[in-house]
Amino acid sequence: MHQVKIFDTTLRDGEQSPGCSMNLSEKIVMARQLEKLGVDIIEAGFAIASPMDSKSIQAIAAAVSSCTVASLARLNPKDIDAAWESVKNAKKPRIHVFIATSDLHMQYKLRMSREQVLKAITEMVSYAKAKCEDIEFSAEDASRSDREFLVQAFSNAVAAGATTLNVPDTVGYSTPQEMSDLITYLKEHVAGIENVAISVHCHNDLGMGVANSLACVKAGATQVECTVNGIGERAGNAALAEIVMALKTRRDYYEADTGINTREIYKSSRLLSNITGVPIAPTKPIVGANAFAHESGIHQHGIITNAQTYEIMNPDDVGVPHKALVLGKHSGKHAIRERLEAMGYEIPEEELEDIFARFKKLADQKKTITSSDLEALTLHRSRIVRPEEGVASTCQLVSHSITSGSDIPKISYVKLKKDNNVMEGVEYGAGPLDAAFKAVNKMLGVDARLEDFSIRAVTEGEDSIGEAVVKVSSGATGETYTGSGISTDIVEASLQAYINGINKMFEAGE
Ligand code: KIV
Ligand code: ZN
Repeated sequence: MHQVKIFDTTLRDGEQSPGCSMNLSEKIVMARQLEKLGVDIIEAGFAIASPMDSKSIQAIAAAVSSCTVASLARLNPKDIDAAWESVKNAKKPRIHVFIATSDLHMQYKLRMSREQVLKAITEMVSYAKAKCEDIEFSAEDASRSDREFLVQAFSNAVAAGATTLNVPDTVGYSTPQEMSDLITYLKEHVAGIENVAISVHCHNDLGMGVANSLACVKAGATQVECTVNGIGERAGNAALAEIVMALKTRRDYYEADTGINTREIYKSSRLLSNITGVPIAPTKPIVGANAFAHESGIHQHGIITNAQTYEIMNPDDVGVPHKALVLGKHSGKHAIRERLEAMGYEIPEEELEDIFARFKKLADQKKTITSSDLEALTLHRSRIVRPEEGVASTCQLVSHSITSGSDIPKISYVKLKKDNNVMEGVEYGAGPLDAAFKAVNKMLGVDARLEDFSIRAVTEGEDSIGEAVVKVSSGATGETYTGSGISTDIVEASLQAYINGINKMFEAGE
């Protein structure tokens, strides 16, 4: 058996994908969950990209203790300095430097010769090494690079102090056999490779990100880079859940272990989807709603007789909650805490108060409260933007009323609270939500524009909870913010989502 480290780049490569951006508090919530999940390395961001990126990396470095925290950096002193400033207070800091090594990228993107790239690797890996012991070097577009040149690039990186060599299939072009051959070739030719970790980073453009990563593990890779729900540039990165569960389920074949607590997989996936508002496809392996559902009679019969007939994994191992009916209107806070703990959620007392208050409100609207309802309330708390020092305070929906129907004007009345000021607004609109959103904009004096809107049921039954996700852009800067809200009343969920998006705009300093 060989040990494979899980390098999670949800908060860097994943966050780069459209619609997946997260604010500071959301990144911290996600990083804490990744720590519970047991990932070895969290790539927390690209420090030079923006002051916000650097601030979030520092906050994550302070928030987690068992994982290594990495920042990405190009091969230049400014990037490396920014990366080091961001991770230096982590218990286990790492600087992750990269440069492209394919002729295509060197000629058209970097406008550098092979010699210049090799020189930069030696100089800048040494520069980073003088600051940090743990250095990862990535050869961007490695899978399309000339093999002999790639060997030189990696050998220079090892000689300059790199402790991990990362082999990205940056554009998701390779096949499993090619990736496996490449790892074997590098193991045979790179000077000093036996003393460093061999990592792979496979994108999913042809749907082979996971298969390529697994082929590399079979060929001897000791680190895999991946993301929760497979988010990432374009078609995304290899999905963490699929890699980890393939290694666990086919341990006989891959002969490799990870340190992941698989029971945290489902929760991590739901949390990310909840934070970003990006839904998980029902057929997504491991974490999709249908991953353990058996529809046909023949399958159901088999499952009842012996689960192994149609289930190669136990849903409990992934942390899929049982859909049991759990609580009623008269349940107390203690019962809620117990139920949440049984579902794997440890909630601090102050947050439990908030969940309990929302549970009581929900219990007035819904006949029965299931574990999925409770989970929706719990996960959703991560979306609440809490005011931080120096950051604009948040706005809350107090109440609303909408008049709508065919051939009558759509009129909204909305009551908001911000900085202890209560405001009321009435507006007309093309539809009920248009009227409500206009009222919010006017009261808050913002030029927020609705770019996208979706609503879906997140729990079961006729009185299920609806989750609204909106994307609002700022008329001033063009920046887009994702907001979400949940309620059994879809207008309320939509208003909460819109206000949540605007709160994020305020949090970003707009
Ligand atoms: O896809 C890629 O090549 C990357 C590198 C920066 C590791 O994300
Ligand atoms: Zn990538």
